[in-house]
Amino acid sequence: MAQVLVLRVPPDDADAATGVLWGIGINALEERLVDGTIELRTVVGDAQLPGTVEALSARWSVAFETVDAEPAETWKAFAAPVDVDGVVLNPAWLTPPDEGVVVSIDPGAAFGLGDHPTTRLSAGLVARRTRSLVAGGARPRVLDVGCGTGVLAIVAAMVGASDVVATDISSAAVEVAESNVMANRVDDVVAVVDTPLGSIEGAFDIVVANILAPTLIEMADDLRGRCCGTLIVSGLLEEQMTRVEAAYQPWVVVERRVLDGWAALELSADERVDRRPSGQ
Ligand SMILES: C[S@@+](CC[C@H](N)C(=O)[O-])C[C@H]1O[C@@H](n2cnc3c(N)ncnc32)[C@H](O)[C@@H]1O
Repeated sequence: MAQVLVLRVPPDDADAATGVLWGIGINALEERLVDGTIELRTVVGDAQLPGTVEALSARWSVAFETVDAEPAETWKAFAAPVDVDGVVLNPAWLTPPDEGVVVSIDPGAAFGLGDHPTTRLSAGLVARRTRSLVAGGARPRVLDVGCGTGVLAIVAAMVGASDVVATDISSAAVEVAESNVMANRVDDVVAVVDTPLGSIEGAFDIVVANILAPTLIEMADDLRGRCCGTLIVSGLLEEQMTRVEAAYQPWVVVERRVLDGWAALELSADERVDRRPSGQ
């Protein structure tokens, strides 16, 4: 049997809570939206608990469930391919479909098998925008901030991006993303780095960030600063859209997509609100 820690936190605390959990060395984390709160579930061993439960319980609701051993294998058995706008996000241990664009993902210890609503929303917007630029003869550069398993960077490369940079603050994610990039044979196009966003140089036609709302708000200046075209942000709940949109003004929203209570925004650098001083 294995022990699952179940942590319920307000959406604004999710980044802090996941940081604590990754910090104690967990291998995988499941995130669910339950009645407006974020439920974080992870298998923990006794060695990880001293001090942690006290620290978590001081701020959030902590519970434990006992499940069958080898939970990783259990969830793997339920994983299924996801089709996003003609791109199949396929768990690496399943036989890939014969046709179409197939991205094979092994999440290892990182977030992003491809089935989370925010990943699906982001992947759809990235694929559509990349294809449209390629169809117009461009050679788009894409930046994936908070790449997790690298799924969005790999999608961009598979549908024609010429140059993709994927970055994450988690060293586990960088390692997993590198391995997925190699497995999908897009290592000639995708570079996975651990460089903080503020230190990444150059401008990108598409910047995508699937990170929780408080971080997106904090990073608004840096994300806009790296983007010379389309900015796609997700990881936010539907009710957080207004707050995130406000942080990105004067950029304008080209499209809002919502799935299972989660949202993604496509913002455009080309349609900035006219900021000329009055009289011009
Ligand atoms: C919700 S996951 C998204 C993973 C993947 N892009 C996807 O769509 O499935 C968010 C990722 O952002 C990373 N992250 C959080 N804050 C970050 C920051 N300030 N800079 C870069 N990455 C960050 C986390 O480590 C995590 O891997």
